Amino acid sequence: MTTKRRALVTGGSRGIGAAICKRLARDGFAVIINYRSREDAAATVAEEVRQAGGEATLAAFDVADRAAVQAGLAELSAGDPRPISVIVNNAGIARDAMLPRMEWEQLEAVTRTTLDGFYNVTQPLVMAMVKQRWGRIINISSISAVKGNQGQVNYSAAKAGLLGATRSLAVELAKRKITVNAVTPGLIDTEMIESVPDFVVKQIPARRIGKPEEVAALVGFLASDEAAYITGQVIGINGGWH
Ligand SMILES: NC(=O)c1ccc[n+]([C@@H]2O[C@H](COP(=O)([O-])OP(=O)(O)OC[C@H]3O[C@@H](n4cnc5c(N)ncnc54)[C@H](OP(=O)(O)O)[C@@H]3O)[C@@H](O)[C@H]2O)c1
Repeated sequence: MTTKRRALVTGGSRGIGAAICKRLARDGFAVIINYRSREDAAATVAEEVRQAGGEATLAAFDVADRAAVQAGLAELSAGDPRPISVIVNNAGIARDAMLPRMEWEQLEAVTRTTLDGFYNVTQPLVMAMVKQRWGRIINISSISAVKGNQGQVNYSAAKAGLLGATRSLAVELAKRKITVNAVTPGLIDTEMIESVPDFVVKQIPARRIGKPEEVAALVGFLASDEAAYITGQVIGINGGWH
């Protein structure tokens, strides 16, 4: 029996992250479902993974809290000797406001989750990937990183920062057979986006919003052995809207 590679998905309890967990489990990874607060939702994803014959572990920590991440990662390695081979930095929040009305806390909450979260989770795990000579780091950014969006100065800045981190880390790790890529979804049907008005959907060439499973399929490919030569890339998934 071959040992499954472990994949950590931050914000794996709902939306795009939950679809990624199910997809990676189906593709043969042992998934670690991270969440911050909604344990019921995370437990449902774990149950669905197990029902389908996959392996799932829950990991509750706030990615923005470095000490909490360290404690969570220590618990994960104490409970299982297998290193983490895939990191999907998916946890994200939006706190939209036009800049004149944007409070500092709205900027801070978003950058702490997206950028501090990326560092807090990825930095401690990279050396183990280097030693394995195999790894996949997939950062879930947003169309808002590459296209201006009203009310999202904070979110666009944080998600664009993630693209910079992706490109530089890809260069650092390429010769170790570790790839680092970013995915920039357009509008995807999750709790994060409230009802999308018709006039917005009409701007999308595909004339519909995307499904979490469609993003998960792309992430699944990037996590596979077949994607070994793709690194430092920013891949849009947006129905032609960009
Ligand atoms: N939906 C879209 O249209 C869209 C478009 C482009 C990019 N994205 C990006 O895709 C990612 C997933 O979005 P989504 O739409 O699936 O969002 P969602 O439905 O709101 O789910 C967010 C997930 O992130 C978790 N989370 C939030 N803050 C966290 C933290 N500090 N620590 C750990 N987990 C945290 C949540 O867990 P709890 O419930 O436990 O808090 C939940 O599992 C985000 O990075 C988002 O910015 C989404």
